[in-house]
Amino acid sequence: MQMWRFLAPSALGFTSRNMWHALVDRATGAPPRALRAMEHVAAHAEQGNPQDVLKRLDEFATSVRWMMSIGPEKDKVIAEARARLDGDPRVLELGAYAGYSSIYMADVLGPRTSITSVEVSADNVRAARGNIEHAGLAERIEVVHGSSSDVIPNLEGIFDLVFLDHWKDLYLKDLQLLEEHELIGPGSVVVADNVGELFGADVYLNYVRNCGRYDSTNRPATIEYTSLPDAVEISVYRGGGAGG
Ligand SMILES: C[S@@+](CC[C@H](N)C(=O)[O-])C[C@H]1O[C@@H](n2cnc3c(N)ncnc32)[C@H](O)[C@@H]1O
Repeated sequence: MQMWRFLAPSALGFTSRNMWHALVDRATGAPPRALRAMEHVAAHAEQGNPQDVLKRLDEFATSVRWMMSIGPEKDKVIAEARARLDGDPRVLELGAYAGYSSIYMADVLGPRTSITSVEVSADNVRAARGNIEHAGLAERIEVVHGSSSDVIPNLEGIFDLVFLDHWKDLYLKDLQLLEEHELIGPGSVVVADNVGELFGADVYLNYVRNCGRYDSTNRPATIEYTSLPDAVEISVYRGGGAGG
């Protein structure tokens, strides 16, 4: 990701607040943000209540430290992706962080939805698993510890919905890996978060819009817990990728 974009005047307040918080946390030896959020959930959220877990994560993100979870503003996008799918989707997420989006999707996509979420950071895996367990969703959400490029080739079967939300410069490479390993099929819906201008996602957007294998639409959004402009791309796979 091109971090210099976050030095634009419109983003400077957000960037400086985050840098300040990161400095304070480092100086005080505070635990990683995702683990602190998990402790907040453990202390305050009702056990087995996904909505309350999400509410407590929102509370932490707005009153303690900003979190890069999807937050409550992306509900319309997930609903739109859902409307394009039949039955109970099998979901793949790249980037679990503290488990917010996987808890959200498991809650709104129906009781037979299963989610595999891939996360490279051991601390974030712990936070995601802790929050998912607290929400009572551990049987439906599996958090796989590893880097997407290592994990994807070992996955099997078609995923109906793919949520790309890890590091933005990996979106294209990993989407092509999913095509190559036939983990998406005709009708699979790929949702890419944070493809607004501040994230510089042109290469990814150019691919899904112009390679001829996706019907792609862009939806305006805001960066989670801010009013900064962002966007989400919803791309329906037609087939014909590297895997045939
Ligand atoms: C924006 S956060 C994900 C937020 C989460 N989807 C949510 O909305 O709650 C990005 C996450 O991707 C993880 N990540 C980055 N690169 C990755 C990779 N190659 N494979 C797996 N996870 C990765 C980061 O450690 C981070 O936790």
